[in-house]
Amino acid sequence: MTPIVSVLIVFIGFTCLLLVGAMVPQSSARVPTGRGRGSKWWGIAKVGEPTNLIQNTIRGGGIGGSYLEPVVQAVLRKKQQRLVRENRGVLEAIAKGANEAIVECKHQFRNRRWNCPTKAFWRGKNIFGKIVDKGCRETAFLYAITSAAVTHAVVRACSEGAIESCTCDYRLHNKYSRSMSSDQNWKWGSCSDNIEFGYKFSRDFVDAGEKIRDMRGTMNLHNNEAGRMHVQSLMRRQCKCHGMSGSCTMKTCWMRLPNLREVGNSIKDRFDGASRVLISNAGSLRDFGRRTRYKFQLKPYNPDHKPPSKKDLVFFEDSPNFCDKDARYGVSGTVGRACNVSSMGVDGCDLMCCGRGYTVSVKTVVERCKCTFKWCCQVECKNCTVTRTYYTCK
Ligand SMILES: *[C@@H]1O[C@H](CO)[C@@H](O)[C@H](O)[C@H]1NC(C)=O
Ligand SMILES: *[C@@H]1O[C@H](CO)[C@@H](O)[C@H](O)[C@H]1NC(C)=O
Repeated sequence: MTPIVSVLIVFIGFTCLLLVGAMVPQSSARVPTGRGRGSKWWGIAKVGEPTNLIQNTIRGGGIGGSYLEPVVQAVLRKKQQRLVRENRGVLEAIAKGANEAIVECKHQFRNRRWNCPTKAFWRGKNIFGKIVDKGCRETAFLYAITSAAVTHAVVRACSEGAIESCTCDYRLHNKYSRSMSSDQNWKWGSCSDNIEFGYKFSRDFVDAGEKIRDMRGTMNLHNNEAGRMHVQSLMRRQCKCHGMSGSCTMKTCWMRLPNLREVGNSIKDRFDGASRVLISNAGSLRDFGRRTRYKFQLKPYNPDHKPPSKKDLVFFEDSPNFCDKDARYGVSGTVGRACNVSSMGVDGCDLMCCGRGYTVSVKTVVERCKCTFKWCCQVECKNCTVTRTYYTCK
């Protein structure tokens, strides 16, 4: 080998090393970041802790007009900040909604291997942890329930008069009362919960973080919308009778928001039957106009399945098994979880403990018992010692 050739080879090798070196950090940085983007606002739930910065922001907003605490700003995108400034009182509703979403998620999944764990100390990380990095059905549920809860909280706050830019929905009164009150013995009246405002606000606010150019963004937007649709479709007409006692000659009716538990149950029903999807390249992927926003074709992964409806949850990646610790997705596994020895379901010891078996421990505990009501107004109880059996996954 001549010196020139070997120098050339060394040179080429060196160039390759440089290229590889330059490429590695770029690509590895691109893969994990931002998969759960658009969900940063969930942090609003914990921003208020330990001191109540949401309250500060609201108080500041009262004086200064548009003040937002830096920690609040840090979890909101520009458009979200604008929406919060333009709709005074809405930030508190969003924060309540986010917290209610956490409570509802934990309730719905209390007996599951994945029991909706959240981080105790929130530091700019996703409050639901790294599971959000995966496009799996648990993530689908999180997007739907948070979006639903914000819709719900905003609608409720409108009725309570807590948001300056909205009120009860009185449009029904104008639309139908004339035609209906004449031939039927009821009319629209009172305060109808303003789902229209809540739906639109949630769509603007919650969807603000998403880009639709990929599978994950499309999945998130679909699930956000599904959450809102569940709230909307559970709106019910409620009526009150007037007239001589019991006669009900006249009724006043209004549209009432469901409680969030109903919404949670309804979304949870879609969890097990969630649709695994592909995104078809048909459709208007380049059209970002609002009208076509939700019209991407989500094709079922299995061609024999129906395409997902608006209320279905969609996902495209398998879930981790949640049995074993998996740091990649912040999964702590089911070791030490309580299980129900007489249940054949997911809370049963077989499934919960993933076949590893369980330990039985008998403990004596002191409980309040034989409570009697003492006039007036105390409840007096005795202390009873009882033995309880606990089943815990190995
Ligand atoms: C355990 O499962 C059984 C059967 O499903 C059920 O009846 C019982 O209430 C459960 N116990 C607890 C503590 O959840
Ligand atoms: C029951 O126990 C609690 C605390 O363990 C104690 O404060 C209370 O006095 C007890 N009540 C009775 C009736 O013994």
